[in-house]
Amino acid sequence: MHVATDFHPTGGASADDYQVLDILGSGGFGVVFRALAPATGQTVALKMLGCQHMLGPEGHRHFGREARLLDRVRHPGVVELVAHGCRQGNPFIVTGYVAGRTLEALIEDEAPLAPERAVDLAIGVLEALVAVHAAGVVHRDLKPSNIMVRADGTGRESVVLLDFGAAATIGDALECSEIVGTPHYMAPEQVLGGTDARVDVFAVGALLFEMLTGRKAFPTRTIRTLLARADLEQPPTFDPVFDVPPALQNVVRTALVGQRAWRHPSAQSMLSALRRSAGRAWVKPEASPGPSSDTGLQPPAADMSASADPLDDPPAAADHTPEPTRPRWSGWLHDVGRRLAACWPTPDAPAESVALDCTA
Ligand SMILES: Nc1ncnc2c1ncn2[C@@H]1O[C@H](COP(=O)(O)OP(=O)(O)O)[C@@H](O)[C@H]1O
Ligand SMILES: [Mg+2]
Repeated sequence: MHVATDFHPTGGASADDYQVLDILGSGGFGVVFRALAPATGQTVALKMLGCQHMLGPEGHRHFGREARLLDRVRHPGVVELVAHGCRQGNPFIVTGYVAGRTLEALIEDEAPLAPERAVDLAIGVLEALVAVHAAGVVHRDLKPSNIMVRADGTGRESVVLLDFGAAATIGDALECSEIVGTPHYMAPEQVLGGTDARVDVFAVGALLFEMLTGRKAFPTRTIRTLLARADLEQPPTFDPVFDVPPALQNVVRTALVGQRAWRHPSAQSMLSALRRSAGRAWVKPEASPGPSSDTGLQPPAADMSASADPLDDPPAAADHTPEPTRPRWSGWLHDVGRRLAACWPTPDAPAESVALDCTA
């Protein structure tokens, strides 16, 4: 396939001529091709809308936002924006091609990973996230298929974050009433409201749990269960069979606390905790602490301004077990709940990203 001649860029891209080589993958919104820019000889990834109902202004808005936010973040751990534009009415985004495999493929083939390897990969994700957050952007859809893992000549692995299709500026994320993300990796506040950079910390916890065990942290998650006060859900415990050092378990479980005031307050803070845990001799204590009635976790040192959001109220230490929940939906959230219930086909929600604009 040869994509040529009639690019009409809208986003500052020059009318490049891309030669499509093969398909790299597809996700919630796009189909991504490996392509060649003959003018420069560069191999790129060309993402086009793969979702019919998003052709038109909605697709332009979506891709325009993705390109704009990606353009704000320049970091070796974040895919590089090369160009964006529009061809025959269809928006496209061009990013640097990352030779490697997705973290999803790596987990499928090799998990459970050795703790040292999983920690190295998570450190790479967190270093990139620190840069993303410093640029005022929150990713909101971190999951294994949105992360590439590449290995250099010596076999040393590094990660690259992809797919800023659900990203937002931190301020917009706080304000907007859009539900985006993928249920297995979503922090509860992504459906309960009031999103900030801590949703990405939660997702890294879910990624790390999956790398270390080969299992999803919250295997039965759906949007429905998230709406049912998932902020009171306990972080998962590690089966001893995986032999994950307790200090590392603690870092992962602190990322996965439903009530975000008890989570690592930032990517930087989780990164430091992970490095500290990796610096320790990973020797099991004689009697490993079993799951207790509460999470067994200490609240992290707060380094973010306190929020008046009721979701932030930390639970009483002995009161972290989910109560039979009564939804506290109010106003638009109630409306969202009804609309989701109507459009969600089965209780087993798809693991694909969702993006539902609830402002209408
Ligand atoms: N720059 C890239 N280099 C290599 N592969 C990529 C690149 N961008 C995307 N892919 C592949 O395409 C898949 C879908 O891309 P993504 O940007 O996540 O699209 P979607 O928004 O549809 O989820 C990824 O999971 C990955 O396999
Ligand atoms: Mg994706």
